[in-house]
Amino acid sequence: MRYRAQVITISDKGAWGERIDTSGPALKKVLEKDFDVADIIIVPDEEDRIAGAITHAIDEMGMDLIVTTGGTGVSPRDVTPEATRAVIDHELPGFAEVMRAESYKITPHAIISRAICGIRGRSIIVNLPGSEKAATECLGFIIKAIPHALAKINGDPSDCA
Ligand code: MTE
Repeated sequence: MRYRAQVITISDKGAWGERIDTSGPALKKVLEKDFDVADIIIVPDEEDRIAGAITHAIDEMGMDLIVTTGGTGVSPRDVTPEATRAVIDHELPGFAEVMRAESYKITPHAIISRAICGIRGRSIIVNLPGSEKAATECLGFIIKAIPHALAKINGDPSDCA
């Protein structure tokens, strides 16, 4: 069975048509190897718009995996972690821990990321950084664990190997 995934690009300039979104398409391409991926959604750096896009994708569209890109840093408009925290039932700290630890081997700036990952209902939400390079690097560090995590969230009773 292939799980369904939604990429949400979070960028004021992207939403206003002032910047071409390259991160969203790059993530979609990577995800398409393992997931059925919906068309990319672009929202501005507004907490309620981000939270609304995530909850709509999960509660209305039935997406299993939400991947956000952007808004995880420390700029005044970076509110993706706050929006994500507001809609998750449980955090998945290991995902964000590994992304920061592995990214730190590439750049010391990695520890600026405030990204969080978590579970809403039977779906997983993953915050990724905004740049195409950073976002695809981070997705690469965690993607192998996602199908197994989704299987467990959906009640797979088998023992973990
Ligand atoms: N992670 C990886 N793998 N590669 C990177 O280049 N850049 C960092 C960090 N994580 C980076 C990374 C930087 S510079 C910032 S500011 C934070 O992600 C937050 O990015 P965002 O504000 O675009 O979400």
